[in-house]
Amino acid sequence: MSSKREFASKIGLIAATVGSAIGLGNVWRFPAETQANGGAAFLLIYIACVLLLGVPVMLAEFSLGRSGRSDAIGAFRKLSPGKPWWLIGVVAVLASYLILCYYMVVAGWTLEYFWQSIAGGLFDGLPQTDGTPLRGFFSGKMESYIATDMAPLVFTFLMIAINIGVLLGGVQKGIERLSNVMMPMLFIILVAMCVLALSLPGAADGVAYFLNPDFSKIDASVVVNALGQAFFSLSLGMGILVTYASYYPADTKLGKTAITVALLSVGVAILMGLVIFPAVKSFGLDNENLRGATLVFVTLPEVFAQLPLPQLWAAMFFFLLLVAALTSTVSIAEVSIAMFQDRCHMSRRAATFTVMLPLFVLSAICSLSMGSWARYTIFGMNFFDLLDSFTTNWLLPIVAFGTCIYMGWFAPNGLLRTELSNGAPAANSTPVQKTVLFIIRYLAPVLIVAIVVFSL
Ligand code: PFF
Repeated sequence: MSSKREFASKIGLIAATVGSAIGLGNVWRFPAETQANGGAAFLLIYIACVLLLGVPVMLAEFSLGRSGRSDAIGAFRKLSPGKPWWLIGVVAVLASYLILCYYMVVAGWTLEYFWQSIAGGLFDGLPQTDGTPLRGFFSGKMESYIATDMAPLVFTFLMIAINIGVLLGGVQKGIERLSNVMMPMLFIILVAMCVLALSLPGAADGVAYFLNPDFSKIDASVVVNALGQAFFSLSLGMGILVTYASYYPADTKLGKTAITVALLSVGVAILMGLVIFPAVKSFGLDNENLRGATLVFVTLPEVFAQLPLPQLWAAMFFFLLLVAALTSTVSIAEVSIAMFQDRCHMSRRAATFTVMLPLFVLSAICSLSMGSWARYTIFGMNFFDLLDSFTTNWLLPIVAFGTCIYMGWFAPNGLLRTELSNGAPAANSTPVQKTVLFIIRYLAPVLIVAIVVFSL
């Protein structure tokens, strides 16, 4: 092993875990979901889901990882040798790898947009007349940056190469060092963008939309979507947190860590909402365009184009997106790398290349499926969308469900209690620990099954 597989400092382990949690899910998926599900009411349910369900499930994954001290498959094998629980780990590794294939492509787009912002390409040929709708202009740019073959492919490959560079450095010198530098930058940029957005004329309308709940908009699908968003944005159900927690020193306080990670992740989502909704309302850009790729790659450039120094704002924003994407892609890749290191006794170097080299082919297929291969579909979806819906709708809930059932009922006696109380005897469990155990045993599994059934 080239470097010790343990985070070196408390700040480092928080930065890395927060780096994994805060990703495209917070900065891109969250505002789109909020918009699609009626604004502030969705925000409230999302926060409730994060705190009541997300944190306990996160604690189950942390406890499994830290006590197993191994990769996502090895943790189950060590704790329950000879039993088939390790199959949950297999699904987790598979899920994370499939997600990596398409997440890397979106990460490539963020790199491309960042590059085009600093090089000036994004605003090249911008119509100068006041009041001209800019949507067509930026949709055209998006077409040429994302829905073509060559450029997105090149930037996806570059992103894979950057990931390899970080991952070869190992846990401390690669992942931890990257997160320590990048995460504070992400927060500073986000706060700066927030100040800018809130100072725009008419920003208050956007704030009201985002923060004044209209409870009549809540129905079962809003709750299901909020829970899905909570799991996605906390990186639950794919072995990431199990793997990272296996790098936590023995004295790490799991409860404190989970709360910190959850609050920071929610905080970033809220700040992001406070950037997007005021900016969009201020310029009267219509809300139906607040969807996934269009929101980030068309609507926001439209906002930037109407500000002084558009290139600077665009570069800042896409750098933020790039940081969010990079610290998440390394965490997703780490699940498989740890697996090869532990299961196949590979060196860090061999494991990194074994995991990352096939991505040059698999991510290329995803990338091309947004370009000229979009005409090839399976079940009516291109390869990219197929991977996305198969993993998020099926594999993640299976892993999250399996982990809760295992940790709640079948793990060695008292394991969860011991981990949560850092070794204190069971008789001394606090009410909070008892509540967490109850949620892991009953509430979380029932709700996860409900989500899957509801979305059928
Ligand atoms: N939690 C991160 C995000 O919200 O983007 C990273 C992530 C990893 C998201 C894996 C989704 C996922 F399936």
